[in-house]
Amino acid sequence: MAEDLNITKGSKEEQYINLLPQISGLLDGETDLVANLANITGALKEQFGFFWVGFYLVKGEELVLGPFQGPVACTRIKKGRGVCGTSWEKAETIIVPDVEQFPGHIACSSLSKSEIVLPLIHLKNVVGILDVDSEELNGFDHVDAKYLQEIIDLVNYTND
Ligand code: SME
Repeated sequence: MAEDLNITKGSKEEQYINLLPQISGLLDGETDLVANLANITGALKEQFGFFWVGFYLVKGEELVLGPFQGPVACTRIKKGRGVCGTSWEKAETIIVPDVEQFPGHIACSSLSKSEIVLPLIHLKNVVGILDVDSEELNGFDHVDAKYLQEIIDLVNYTND
């Protein structure tokens, strides 16, 4: 059973370091992918108050909206399109300090100013992406990339 998160203040790195074992605990013993992705978005939203945090999952030739926290979002993104589709195509984490400077950026919300997208990789294939959006410019850096990667590395895909 889930217990309330222990939300901390402190530097961004300290917050991630406090959050990681709690997310690990939430996922421990639960094999359902959607349930686990949903709790990751809830934990990230609760700790950091991100404008939008969520997953898109690869279905055929598209990314389809999965568990998220925040305003309603685009439901389908094609490979190579926007930041999410580019992260999928390149199998790389992408940090966008200013979305207006990213050619082809898909504006699900005009309030989103910067974002970070990480690919979910299972058996060498991208099976989805994690997208986090901020209302501020330069909302994300290598610290977010490092710890968000550690968080998605906790996901197991055994019930795919
Ligand atoms: N901005 C993303 C689309 C997803 S939303 O921001 C939730 C993109 O360009 O891929």
